Parts: sequence; structure tokens; C-alpha cells
Amino acid sequence: MTAPPYNDLLDYVLIDAERLQKRITELGEEITADYRQDHDIFLIGILKGSMLFMADLMRRLDIPHMVDFLDVTSYGAGARESTGYVRILMDLHTSIEKKNVLIVEDIVDSGHTLDRVLQQLRARQPASLRVCTLLDKAERREVAVPLDYVGFTIPNVFVFGYGLDIDEYYRNLPFIGVVKPGAIIDGTS
Ligand code: PRP
Repeated sequence: MTAPPYNDLLDYVLIDAERLQKRITELGEEITADYRQDHDIFLIGILKGSMLFMADLMRRLDIPHMVDFLDVTSYGAGARESTGYVRILMDLHTSIEKKNVLIVEDIVDSGHTLDRVLQQLRARQPASLRVCTLLDKAERREVAVPLDYVGFTIPNVFVFGYGLDIDEYYRNLPFIGVVKPGAIIDGTS
């Protein structure tokens, strides 16, 4: 069975496209101002959820920057909540030693993924290491993680769209939606 139209799974829109883009512009301006004195900034996107956020955020930055990606997974296909078990699937292609690193995430939930990523990257001795997340599901936190830039703090609801998936579908939607309770696609959820 293929994925149904998103409307079949959408309970309500939590953050519409206009609000998202406005906030990302603000984040871009804030980051640009904060890093103005540094020579370079190295953006590290955590795949796959950060794809759309990264693409929009970097176009709002008015400072020189490079981009790389880490592929990390914690939920697994069909899972609705983080398991706490984090797998690094693909490492960076370049060294971050002495660089000003900014991690770009779509969502921080339990915090396990980011905690693991921060541990790994700190050991590589960047000049600085900060975090920018579009969404912060703060009430779900199990491990404390430092967040330097937050787009939106959201309640404990299952969200999709704008990079976030339901069983790997719907990442292309331009808004953040809330999944209807009990919605499934392929019977694995
Ligand atoms: C999501 C999200 C974060 C992580 C947050 O990734 O992109 O990386 O979970 O959860 P946590 O704070 O509870 O660890 P996911 O594993 O779903 O992979 P994806 O981005 O490829 O969809």
C-alpha cells in the first residue's frame, strides 16, 4: 500500500508555512549577527529530518559557511517515539577541528540523539560547538542538552512535514502538521 494523501493523516496544522519561514528568517539574522566576528561557520545537518530546514536556513545566512551532514537515526521505521538507542549511519566528510560548528536539527525530543552527536563532535575539538533546532519538544526531554537557537517549542504531539516524516513519507510538506491519533500507512506502525 502506498502513502495516502497527507490530508488523510493530518489532524491539524501546528505551524503554517508562513510562520515557519518568518521564524527561519529571524534565526538566520540572529546567527549571522552572532557569528559576524568569526571567520567561518561550519553547519552540520542531522539527516534526514534537517534537510528542508538546512536548505532554508543557509539561504538566510549572510556569513561565509560550509555544510556537511551526519546521518543518525533513533526512531526506526514505524516507530512513533525515540528509542533512546542512537545509530550513526554516515559520518562527516571533513574535519571540524578548530572550526566554529553549528549543528542543525529539525527536532529535539528525548535529547538522546543530540547528546550522542555532541559527545562525538566535542571529541574532535572544534573551536566552538552550538546547536540550532527548528523544533523543541521540551517536555519530552530525558537528557539535558544545550540548545543555542530554537525555532519553536512545541507540545508533546506527533508532528510531520517540513523534513519530518511519517514512516519516511511527507517530508516535503511546507508546514508542520500533527498526525491524527491512530493514523497508519503501511500497517507497521
Ligand atoms: C529524529 C530527529 C532527531 C531525533 C530527535 O530523527 O531528526 O534527530 O529524532 O529525537 P531524540 O531527541 O528523542 O533523540 P529520526 O531518528 O526520526 O531520523 P530522521 O531525521 O531520518 O527521520
